[in-house]
Amino acid sequence: MSKISVFHSAKALQRATAGSKGLVGFVPTMGALHEGHLALVRRAQRECERVVVSIFVNPTQFGPGEDFERYPRDLKKDCELLASLGKPVDVFAPEAVEVYPSDFATRILVYGSLGRVLEAGLRPGHFDGVATVVARLFGLVRPDRAYFGLKDYQQFRVIERMTRDLGLPLELVPCATVREQDGLAMSSRNRYLSPAERSLAPGLYRALNATRVALGKGASAAAAEKIGRESLRRSGGFKLQYLSVADPMTLEPWKGTGRKGPKMVLAAAMLGSTRLIDNIKA
Ligand code: PAJ
Repeated sequence: MSKISVFHSAKALQRATAGSKGLVGFVPTMGALHEGHLALVRRAQRECERVVVSIFVNPTQFGPGEDFERYPRDLKKDCELLASLGKPVDVFAPEAVEVYPSDFATRILVYGSLGRVLEAGLRPGHFDGVATVVARLFGLVRPDRAYFGLKDYQQFRVIERMTRDLGLPLELVPCATVREQDGLAMSSRNRYLSPAERSLAPGLYRALNATRVALGKGASAAAAEKIGRESLRRSGGFKLQYLSVADPMTLEPWKGTGRKGPKMVLAAAMLGSTRLIDNIKA
């Protein structure tokens, strides 16, 4: 554990990182760390002199009735996982008042298609909460590079847009989705799944792949989406929220035809009381 320094205040973190030579890499998380998070941290450790991992379950990105209260929190276990990587990490684990002082009065509004479609349509205000906390964390941590997973593809596009729109002086590094052997994208929320649900869960990834294969054979977006939905229905247990072939930048429905041009397939579905999201490039 000696290589893990935990900071609860931004001032203390800044004192430790100020004057450090070389790049400061930053991995923002909500904790309950798994291999997906650790892949981002490993990459940051390869590319940067110093790595800060924030662990903060941000209340403003959860909607009413979502899982803010039950979201898993275990700082000790998270620090053990980070220590197992064998290189130093600064853990920034602020209390809510550190991130949102009582006189905090700013909120970033995400608009345009990224603030309207898919996740944004189902979780009103979610990306405003994400953009605001990430901008705030960027201000507190002052990194040169920040690492984000493409598992949360729309989130990455939102943060990319926000960073560009606000002219923030850092580089974003998108990182590939880490999956379980059976294809299920790793997620802190996977631990909510019952054993029966866990065995059904890879059906979401299979549905994305079925959609991608159909597109590869020249199917239209609508026909490919239908095949994906049918694949998910056959898996059983899921309540689909969306499955969309989308433009990789705007995430609006893909308008192209045939195999030409980059596109993403994105989906969200409930499995019991657990919400799963996933995406692949097609
Ligand atoms: P969280 O869900 O903890 O994820 C933290 C980072 O890990 C995000 O960039 C996410 O995309 C990445 N990640 C999660 N699962 C992954 C996987 N299977 N493969 C690759 N990367 C993965 O995303 C958030 O927290 C929050 O919204 C946050 C950005 C911290 C703002 O509160």
